[in-house]
Amino acid sequence: MRVAVLGSTGSIGASTLDVLGRHPERFEVVALAAASSHVRLFEQIVRFRPRFAIMQDPAAGAQLLAAVRGTDLPTEVLIGPDALCAVAGHVEVDTVMAAIVGAAGLPSTLAAAEAGKRVLLANKESLVVAGALLIEAARRGGATLIPIDSEHNAIFQCLPEKVESGRRCGGVRRILLTASGGPFLRLTREEMRKVSPHQACDHPRWRMGRKISVDSATLMNKGLELIEACLMFGMEPSDVSVVVHPQSIVHSLVEYVDGSILAQLGNPDMRTPIAHALGWPERILSGVESLDLVAAARLDFEAPDSTRFPCLRLARAAAEAGGTTPAVLNAANEVAVEAFLAGRLDFLGIPDLVEAVLERHEQRPATALSRVLEADRWARGLAESMLVREARADA
Ligand SMILES: NC(=O)c1ccc[n+]([C@@H]2O[C@H](COP(=O)([O-])OP(=O)(O)OC[C@H]3O[C@@H](n4cnc5c(N)ncnc54)[C@H](OP(=O)(O)O)[C@@H]3O)[C@@H](O)[C@H]2O)c1
Repeated sequence: MRVAVLGSTGSIGASTLDVLGRHPERFEVVALAAASSHVRLFEQIVRFRPRFAIMQDPAAGAQLLAAVRGTDLPTEVLIGPDALCAVAGHVEVDTVMAAIVGAAGLPSTLAAAEAGKRVLLANKESLVVAGALLIEAARRGGATLIPIDSEHNAIFQCLPEKVESGRRCGGVRRILLTASGGPFLRLTREEMRKVSPHQACDHPRWRMGRKISVDSATLMNKGLELIEACLMFGMEPSDVSVVVHPQSIVHSLVEYVDGSILAQLGNPDMRTPIAHALGWPERILSGVESLDLVAAARLDFEAPDSTRFPCLRLARAAAEAGGTTPAVLNAANEVAVEAFLAGRLDFLGIPDLVEAVLERHEQRPATALSRVLEADRWARGLAESMLVREARADA
């Protein structure tokens, strides 16, 4: 199987290459892609010798080109978003790991879906922004979408048969999404006001990229996952519950109408869902250790607190509203998280900014990509101008 890893220098990208590296007889890495980490990408090129390497940033692309030139590497270096989409849909690619962070991953994920690839979907934002369009593109193109988010991958594993993306499986009563609760599970709102980006990125269970780590700390990650679950599995928001499970051992659960609940358990290591999706419908080694249930000793569950974590409430409302609202929620959140990481916004400012943008949004049906992208641009522009206004007022 020939695999393209988009976002190869990130956390999911590295875990994917780890799994792929364990099965050289089964997988061939044909493309690697990143935004600007040219040194890391070059190291990966040396190890996996792909046919293509794509860099988004032109200056970093030039550096990569210089590093590859004069070597015996078989790699063609390409630059820019069009090249990324071309490779995602390339005839020599069977499987695309969509592991770019944020809405920036949408065009290449769509290209892979339209071209009928097996799409391993880590980039949840593309589903949140343009879910119905992405699922429709996959249907048209004959693509298979397999979720990589540990929760959605767990649900996929607990569903009865081959799941058709976007269609509810018979007999399912509800989905229970588990949430670790993030690093600030026990903090008061007053304490949260003072937390730093470093503290927000220091997740107790998972090592992840900075954006998803902050989303985990605000619980927006669970909110985005709620929207993702509705779209991926054809569920109503009211049929998707969130339950806090600090040990992150039960990755999610499916309840059937007869009262049975199936869960998927394992150590919190993304190589499990990645190996599952790469090998599916077979099982392959991931490098993850066996779960020691006796050492784990207990599994706790509690209700989430949407007063201290308003992002969950905002995301649920966006899931219920549908149309362009999830795209606006996502765009405002991306701007807010970036501002928090850059020290321009305090932690509690993230939900405040997202809510302020949502309040001004006039929802439209998300029937065309142009509409969704317009809503995304509008929300980013408004969120940025609100940040600037606030900074001026504080000065
Ligand atoms: N990490 C996890 O455990 C986890 C779990 C579930 C789901 N996810 C989802 O998986 C996705 C990736 O998360 P992550 O934690 O791996 O993020 P990350 O560590 O920040 O990595 C992001 C990757 O995307 C690349 N990238 C960013 N913008 C790009 C662009 N415009 N074009 C091409 N490449 C671009 C980055 O390249 P540079 O290195 O050059 O910046 C990097 O390779 C996110 O959607 C996240 O929600 C992650």
